[in-house]
Amino acid sequence: MAFALDQFALEGKVAIVTGAGARGNSIGRAYAFGLANAGASILVADLDGDGAERVAIELREAGYRARSTRVDISDPASAKAMAAAADAAFGGVDILVNNAAMMAELEYHPASTVPIDYWNKVLAVNLTGALNCAQAVLPLMRARSYGRIVNAVSGGAFPAQSVYGITKLALVGLTTTLATELGRENITVNAIAPGNTMSEAGAGLTPPESPFKKKMEQMVVMRIEGQPDELVGALILLASPAGGWMTGQVLHVDGGWILRP
Ligand SMILES: NC(=O)c1ccc[n+]([C@@H]2O[C@H](COP(=O)([O-])OP(=O)(O)OC[C@H]3O[C@@H](n4cnc5c(N)ncnc54)[C@H](O)[C@@H]3O)[C@@H](O)[C@H]2O)c1
Repeated sequence: MAFALDQFALEGKVAIVTGAGARGNSIGRAYAFGLANAGASILVADLDGDGAERVAIELREAGYRARSTRVDISDPASAKAMAAAADAAFGGVDILVNNAAMMAELEYHPASTVPIDYWNKVLAVNLTGALNCAQAVLPLMRARSYGRIVNAVSGGAFPAQSVYGITKLALVGLTTTLATELGRENITVNAIAPGNTMSEAGAGLTPPESPFKKKMEQMVVMRIEGQPDELVGALILLASPAGGWMTGQVLHVDGGWILRP
C-alpha cells in the first residue's frame, strides 16, 4: 500500500491518556489535545479526578470527544475501572498513553540510602502503574486486533539519575518486554523520552539559574528546553497506523540530549 498522510489519522480510535490532569500546562494535556486533533476519542485519567475533568471539558469545548475518570494507576483495580470507563464511553480502547508518574513531587534520596518504603511507593506508580494500565487495556486491544501503548520515560534515565531515573530506565525494560510479548498481536509498545520540557512541573523543577540548567547547556546539542507540544508528533507516529511497524523503541525528543557530546 502506498504511503498516504492519512496513515497518521486516528479517526475512530479511542485513547486513554493517564496523568493529564493535575496541572494546567502538562505533557499529558498536550498529548490529549494532539490525539484528539488527529481524530481520537479521549479518556483523560488522573489521580486528580477534578483536574482530569477540567481537561476533558476543555477538549469538549474545543469540539472533541472526551471524558474523564479518576485513577490511581498503582492500584490494579483502579486501572481496570479506568479501562472499563473508556469501553463504556467509547466502545473499546486502541491507544494507551502511560504518561502519569511521580516526578515533581518526589523527594530527593540517593539510591544508596533511600528508605525502602519510599522506593516501593515510587516504583508502584512509575513502573508498576504502567503495567497495571497495560494489563487492564490488553483485553480491549485484543478485541480490536489493534493496540498502541506508549510509555513516558525520560532523558533522566540515560543514564539513570536518582530513584526517578531508575524507575524510568526500568520502564524501558517493561517497554521492550511487552513489545516482544505482544508483537504478533498487532499491539506495539514504545516509549518517548522527553528532554527538559516546560510543563508546569518541568519548569518548576528547573528554574533558570539552577545548576541543572548550566549542566544542560554543555550536554544538549540544540535548545535545552522544549515545550509539551513538541512531543506530540512522536506520539502521533507511535499511536497511528503510520508507526505500525515500530515496536520496542524509545524515541528521544530532547534536542539531542541523548547524544551527550
Ligand atoms: N517535564 C519534563 O521535563 C519531563 C521530562 C521527562 C519525562 N517527563 C515525564 O512526562 C510525564 C508527564 O510529566 P509532566 O511534566 O507533564 O508532569 P505532571 O506532574 O504535570 O504530570 C504527571 C501526572 O501524573 C499524575 N499522577 C501521579 N501519580 C499518579 C497515580 N498514582 N495515578 C494516576 N495519576 C498519577 C499527576 O497527578 C500528574 O497529573 C511524566 O511521566 C514525567 O515523568 C517529564
